[in-house]
Amino acid sequence: MFSPNKKQTFSKYKILYMKKNAISKLMTRHHKKLERLLRIFKANIGKNVEKMSESLERLRWEFEKHTFCEEKVMFKFCETENCTDVLKLIKAHDEMLEMLSTIKSDLAVKDSVDISGFLKLIGEHKNLEEKILYPKLDRQLDSEQKKFILRKIREVSYDGSGWNWQ
Ligand SMILES: [Fe+2]
Ligand SMILES: [Fe+2]
Repeated sequence: MFSPNKKQTFSKYKILYMKKNAISKLMTRHHKKLERLLRIFKANIGKNVEKMSESLERLRWEFEKHTFCEEKVMFKFCETENCTDVLKLIKAHDEMLEMLSTIKSDLAVKDSVDISGFLKLIGEHKNLEEKILYPKLDRQLDSEQKKFILRKIREVSYDGSGWNWQ
């Protein structure tokens, strides 16, 4: 039986994949979520250890889900000559994960940590994807391909309590 909540989220999903900019829209929302977690983390460095650790854990978890969606689903649709260099993007994902691990281990032994390198890399990466990669996929893929991608991302983003759109 459909609960009102499920009904509502189903129509949201249906409307989303039919839009011309469906991929850009969804993935930009994911980026905004990561930015929000990053802001919370930054604001709590040296102030609230509990909130700082919690937001760092959540940031890593969401970052891994996001990059999983990109690497295992979305990038498979990139043709080498048409897409931004996918290997470079994957390399940046690995670098950012490495940086998050270093930030975590630094914070285990000291009160403050320099996250400027991470901020710079994630900012450049986000811009490249939002300005070039996602719009390119939105232009080049047909609605069935987009539907497939969005369905797979939905499976990863589903948090057990309903749709995870933010
Ligand atoms: Fe990415
Ligand atoms: Fe991304």
